[in-house]
Amino acid sequence: MHIKWCVIGAGGIADRRTIPAILSDGGSRLTALMDRNPETAERLGKKYSVSYFTDEREMLEKSECDAVYIGTPVKCHVEQAMICLEHGKHVFIEKPIGMNSAEGEKLVNAFKNEGKQITVGYMMKYHNLHVKAKKLVADGKIGTVNDVRLQFSCWYPEIAGAWRQSKALGGGGAVMDLGVHCIELIEYILDEKITETKSYLSHRVFSYEVEDGGVIAFRTESGVLGHIDVNFNLPDKASVSKMELYGTEGYINCFGTLGQEEKGRMLFLHSPQGEYSAKQERTSDKPVTYYGNGGDLYLKQIKDFTKILRSGKPDYYYAERAVQVQKVVDGIYSEK
Ligand SMILES: NC(=O)c1ccc[n+]([C@@H]2O[C@H](COP(=O)([O-])OP(=O)(O)OC[C@H]3O[C@@H](n4cnc5c(N)ncnc54)[C@H](O)[C@@H]3O)[C@@H](O)[C@H]2O)c1
Repeated sequence: MHIKWCVIGAGGIADRRTIPAILSDGGSRLTALMDRNPETAERLGKKYSVSYFTDEREMLEKSECDAVYIGTPVKCHVEQAMICLEHGKHVFIEKPIGMNSAEGEKLVNAFKNEGKQITVGYMMKYHNLHVKAKKLVADGKIGTVNDVRLQFSCWYPEIAGAWRQSKALGGGGAVMDLGVHCIELIEYILDEKITETKSYLSHRVFSYEVEDGGVIAFRTESGVLGHIDVNFNLPDKASVSKMELYGTEGYINCFGTLGQEEKGRMLFLHSPQGEYSAKQERTSDKPVTYYGNGGDLYLKQIKDFTKILRSGKPDYYYAERAVQVQKVVDGIYSEK
């Protein structure tokens, strides 16, 4: 049985990634799309040969639909997900789940109460190298993890009317847009929550009201220390995404794996200390290199969600994790 999909907010990441993923998933079918911008709705409706609307309620009333993908500005997520729930639909919402953890939590509880599924678009955890990193950590291959670092950046200059540059529409800047991916991913890989943060946010290069950079130092439940650097103010070509985990027996270093594609490489070194040596000799052991598989992270997400829908078994794990990410972000934005 095909899962019939409708899309709300079709013009951005939906058009670039998620609709193509729905179309290439053998078990899914796109039946209609909606965008508030009439030209976008028409252009994409014609591009994908489906009915198109500018009103979400009208689309939900007139279309065959099991699940809705929501790819709108953050401010719209919760309200539109609730409209979908009122119409008895499952929902796949883009990251972040909402403007803050309170509205995210309320949303997830509403879906639980109605027995409908909800998930959130944190696709980086499906990257084969991140799956591998999680397994290496779980298997103790780098020993006790003590120190982690993530860097994720892009160039995002002032653009008139851009919702991401407005606090009221996007909820924040580089932390809300890029930082959330890093928080979700590192909590997933470590399988534990970030419980404390100390952060610096910058308004250094661009004049918009949200932060154009942030450095977040953190501690996890078990005591792993780490930091996340996110920037809207570094040129794309100088934006070398990195994720590094260091433990008592080695390291995992990922380069170019944070992003929309299953690319990049990962170095894994297992090199336990042995005897104490005052010489502090650096290891000559060679790390093992693994490479991204070049798969489609967005397709993997769709397949994972539709599998849950078909199973009929309630599974709110990813949605709850998305709420937890917003708890960390709430903490960062409330720091003085
Ligand atoms: N997971 C990822 O890789 C990824 C990448 C980019 C964006 N995102 C997330 O996707 C969401 C959308 O971001 P984007 O970059 O696609 O934005 P965008 O501005 O490029 O596209 C948003 C689309 O929604 C439409 N829209 C605006 N308000 C609407 C409303 N009230 N109802 C219906 N349609 C409306 C716009 O006309 C536009 O077509 C955000 O939550 C963002 O964080 C995720």
